[in-house]
Formats: sequence, structure tokens, C-alpha cells
Amino acid sequence: MFILGIETSCDETAAAIIEDGQKILSSSVATSLDMHKKTGGIIPENAAREQIVSILPVISHTLNSASLDLKQIDAIAVTCGPGLIGSLLVGVETAKTLSYILNKPIVPVNHLVGHIYANFVREFTMHNLQFTNENTPEFPAVVLIVSGGHTDLVYMESHQKITWIGGTRDDAAGEAFDKTARLLGLPYPGGPSISAAAEKFLAISHKPLSIFPRPMMGSNDLDMSFSGLKTAVFNMVKGQEGKKTKISKNQIAAEVQEAIVDVLISKSISAIKKYHPKSFLLAGGVAANKRLKEKFQEVVDANYLSVSFHVPHPILCTDNAIFIASSAFFNYHPVPWKDISANAELTISS
Ligand code: KG4
Ligand code: ZN
Repeated sequence: MFILGIETSCDETAAAIIEDGQKILSSSVATSLDMHKKTGGIIPENAAREQIVSILPVISHTLNSASLDLKQIDAIAVTCGPGLIGSLLVGVETAKTLSYILNKPIVPVNHLVGHIYANFVREFTMHNLQFTNENTPEFPAVVLIVSGGHTDLVYMESHQKITWIGGTRDDAAGEAFDKTARLLGLPYPGGPSISAAAEKFLAISHKPLSIFPRPMMGSNDLDMSFSGLKTAVFNMVKGQEGKKTKISKNQIAAEVQEAIVDVLISKSISAIKKYHPKSFLLAGGVAANKRLKEKFQEVVDANYLSVSFHVPHPILCTDNAIFIASSAFFNYHPVPWKDISANAELTISS
């Protein structure tokens, strides 16, 4: 079954064609990132305008790359939320129009659930990169979804049964990376910039990284909080102004990264100990973070946890339409196109 996925929840315009949920035939992503770098973050109206410009070329590009035409597609999958409403509408209305004109089934996909399916992709050839992954996750699974706007822990009994078990009470982990990077004068998006600056520091130092607080790390639940981190970084940057000896920007970046990573890992380990899943999955843009992946594996090994640990290839972690199409295959519930609408506030459990 060939599914055309369409994803426009934020600043990426993406389309992909996936065969039977796990084989990538093509994937195209246009991003308005350079525009947002200039403003230090996303201005929703600008992102929506770029979506309109890119959507049809991106869909054509992905069909051409797969050597398929629209008639050969079996179904359309589209992100219906959460995200920026102007951006979401572009993808949703395009997908509905295609569904009506071509008389093809359409499946609405929750973007957060979609991220999880980056772990289910088995093979792709993209950007001179060939990738196979024989290791499909088994259920039950605990999943940590860490994106720019959400941080959620979920228990997944099956493809259909996902229960929210914890998450952030305030800022998302990705947001903490983005906001602290901005305070440090590092470019948007903050995750990759903080990670690159941190690597420079870690290459020359083995100091313990413990300057910043790890809020709620010791709380007896699966809740998290990241909003205090930006205040701590702000106070440190201000407090250092005019001082001769300063903690370097690269060290602050490493400290920020470690504080976020420690909280995410600690809560994930608590969830694994509580729910005893067969698999643990990372998903979302922050799952591309090398330190998070490495430290997580170290902690799993040190605790002798009998759980199989899955992280998508970094190229699949950030927004794309591959995981949207894959999610629609594993949760194949077409809906009449008239009943589909964009919902900016959709949550993982709605
Ligand atoms: O999932 P995603 O691409 O978009 C949303 O659905 O929000 O996630 C974007 C977030 C941004 O906050 C970005 O800074 C973060 O993922 N991110 C990273 C890395 N790459 C992207 N965070 C930490 N380390 C990275 N390597
Ligand atoms: Zn996302």
C-alpha cells in the first residue's frame, strides 16, 4: 500500500511516500528555517506564507522522486494538529482537496503520535544515505516524545492504545533548548546549536556538569519542568556581564544540555521501572540529540534494564512526512474528507 504523507504543522513543508508503513520510497522537506534564523524564532504568519509557496512543489517533487503519479497512491495521510494553525491549514486543505478530486481515502494524523513512527521505519535511501533497521519495536512500549512544543511520556500497549503517563508542566524540552540558545546568542533552532557548542566544551573538559538545577527530578511522579532553566541561564549571563573571568558560552551550553538530558533520562527510567515495557522509544526533534542518546544507553546498561532501546535515525527525528504516512498505515482509519479539520491544540490523548 502506497501512502502519501503531508506534514505542515510548523516551519517544514513535507511530503513522503511510504510503502506498507515501513519502506520509504521518497521524502521531500522544504524548510523556512533561514527566514526564522533572522528573526531568532518562528513568526507564525511568515511560516504559513512559506507553506503556501512550498506545498505543491514539495508534493510534486516527492511523487517524481518515487516515480509515481497521484493515481497510483492508495491513500493520503495528513497532520491535523497540534501545531501552528496557519501552517496546519495549508496541509489539511491541500490533502482534503486531493482526496476529493482523486477519490482517495484520507487519514488524519496527530503529529505527536506520528513522531513515534519514525521508530518503525525499516529502510530508506536518502541524501546518499542507505539505512536499514531490522529492529521494529515490540509492545508494550514506553515512549518519550520530545519536540519543540511538547514533552510527553506515553505507555503504548498497541498501535491503537496510547495512554499519557507524564510530561512537562510548563516548557517543552525543545523549547528549553531554543530559549536558552537565544539567551546565549546561539542561532535558532537552539537544540543543534547548543549541542554543537557543548561538544566543543566536552572535547576539552571532563568537569562534572552540575551548575543548573534539575527541577522535579526527584519528584515521585513522571512530571517535568523546564521553565526554570531559562531563568537560571538568564541570571548567569546577566551576572557575568562586566566580569573578567567568565564561564564560557560553550560550557554554559554543555551545562544546559546536561540538565535537560538528566531530567529526561531520570523520568524515563522511572517510567520504565514502573511499567516494565518490552521497548523504550525516543521520538521528536530532541531525540536527534547525541548526548541524550548516549547517556540514555549508559544508564540503561548501568541499571541492567531489560528493555530494548530505540532511537530513530537523526534525519527521521525532526519534522518530516515519513512518520506521518507510517503512522497512518499502522492506524488505518480513513475519515470522510469533510470531517477533517486542523486543530492547533490537539494533545497526545485527544
Ligand atoms: O519535532 P520537531 O522537529 O518539531 C516539533 O514538532 O516541534 O522538534 C523541533 C525541536 C526544536 O526545539 C529543536 O531545537 C530541537 O527539536 N532539536 C534538538 C536537536 N535537533 C532538533 N534538540 C536537541 N538536540 C538536537 N540535536
Ligand atoms: Zn514535530
